[in-house]
Amino acid sequence: MSITKESELIGMKEISKVVGTTLKRMREFAKVGMSTKELDDYGGKILKSYGAKSAPFETYNFPGYTCISVNKEAAHGIPSKKKILEKGDLINIDVSAELNGFWSDNGGSFVLGKDIYNHQPLVDASKQILHKAIHRIKGGVKISDIGYLIECEAKKYGFKVIKNLAGHGVGKSLHEKPENILNYRVKSNRERFRKNTTVAIETFISTNSTIAVELKDGWTLVGNKGGFVTQHEHTILITDNTPVILTESNEIWSYKDDININ
Ligand code: CO
Ligand code: CO
Repeated sequence: MSITKESELIGMKEISKVVGTTLKRMREFAKVGMSTKELDDYGGKILKSYGAKSAPFETYNFPGYTCISVNKEAAHGIPSKKKILEKGDLINIDVSAELNGFWSDNGGSFVLGKDIYNHQPLVDASKQILHKAIHRIKGGVKISDIGYLIECEAKKYGFKVIKNLAGHGVGKSLHEKPENILNYRVKSNRERFRKNTTVAIETFISTNSTIAVELKDGWTLVGNKGGFVTQHEHTILITDNTPVILTESNEIWSYKDDININ
């Protein structure tokens, strides 16, 4: 959305702080032996305590308050009593919600406890690429140039990008224009980031796959060639300079990765 007055910025800051804090607290709450349903219920309660409404639950009829994707699940994982978290799992939590008519979106991947399957390099690459991409964005920068940066950085780390998932405008609804902030360059896309707009920037960094495909449950996405995918996402306000990281309360760049060692 385009921010035209102070009250809109305040509204975006409020909901961004809520989704960021919820993501952080869920990451800290995740434990070996816990079901993803229990983790999701915890997140749902936090959102409710702020008076915020889960975006996937309210708008998309998603069967959960947050998306929790474990191991081979690339995105949109459905919280379930049957999915029990184990040591070394690669977990992605994505939290998006609405408060007072404003919407914000954020997400992050992490390893639960000791990294016995060596997922950390993929997690770190995604985090660092998001950091680099966001710090390159300002009013007037071409969206395709940021896609190119993400693609090139992923390659440098020896990874790939998922081509059919993307960042997006956010604010007055969860997904708005620009609709496809892709992780690779589409040369024909001449669209540019605009100052004073809010967008969700998200990485989709992958070991093997380049396309996310939907499972029969109608939600869960997995890679077309298997392997693992990591995602990190912030909602930002674009300026003439470095963007304002509205969801910085999620601490995806600053938390210690061994916090969950069980
Ligand atoms: Co998201
Ligand atoms: Co998003």
